[in-house]
Amino acid sequence: MDKIRSIQKVIKGTLTTDGAGVNLTRIIGGPELNMLDPFLLLDEFGSDNPNDYIAGFPPHPHRGFETITYMLNGKWQHKDSAGHEGLLGEGSVQWMTAGRGIIHSEMPIQTDGLARGFQLWLNLPKEKKMIDPAYADIPSEAIPIVNVAGGTVKVISGTFEGITGPGKPHTGMLYYDVRLKNNVELDLPIPDGWNTFLYIYEGSIFLDEVYSKGQLLTFSQNGNLSFKSSSNGVRIILVAGEPLNEPVARGGPFVMNTRGEVLKAFEDFQNGKFES
Ligand code: CO
Repeated sequence: MDKIRSIQKVIKGTLTTDGAGVNLTRIIGGPELNMLDPFLLLDEFGSDNPNDYIAGFPPHPHRGFETITYMLNGKWQHKDSAGHEGLLGEGSVQWMTAGRGIIHSEMPIQTDGLARGFQLWLNLPKEKKMIDPAYADIPSEAIPIVNVAGGTVKVISGTFEGITGPGKPHTGMLYYDVRLKNNVELDLPIPDGWNTFLYIYEGSIFLDEVYSKGQLLTFSQNGNLSFKSSSNGVRIILVAGEPLNEPVARGGPFVMNTRGEVLKAFEDFQNGKFES
């Protein structure tokens, strides 16, 4: 019988404000879970009150990692200094590789209604931190959805039952959106050695006990991930990645390996080296 991963940590996010005044929940990257190698940050934004999101994220820089934004609801627009422009609609994904430096904005186009989704920061390995910036706009139709008994697995990145998602990470990583009806058991293979988390955004699941909406669970590094949806069904995002096991130096929007590299990023940004 396959080994089953055990729960390591159960956390809830912290309410915070980012950008020009967007209210969101920081789940990874906050005091409870600073990072889960190779993941540096996970934010959930979700509100039908425009005051919570209308200010958006005006132009700001990044260096050294990738940002992956998954929209559940709403319409936002992305623009960046490398000349990319993209629309984020319902069910779509924006995959931005900051590499050696990018300045981007993420602003709502909607003026009312629900805006909901996630932003995940995926670290780049030392040898790839200074690669050219890149951007991929992945529309909802381009993301495969695999049927399982009692639900679906949307494959944003990685491979599930032979179906590979469109997201192209620079290191081993998978990202699924799993939706299950009530009382469905799921047993998912995940490569041994990878760090894994799931975040419940609707409903609840049963493992050793019941976990519900708003909780993030991390798991031990080997074996399958196995759980059952509870009587009201569940929606989760499930993310796993190969740890980089490298030093991490963070300075706001820059994530490098040393303090000196972070200072250099601030200096390069101030000297306009992110502009093209
Ligand atoms: Co950003």
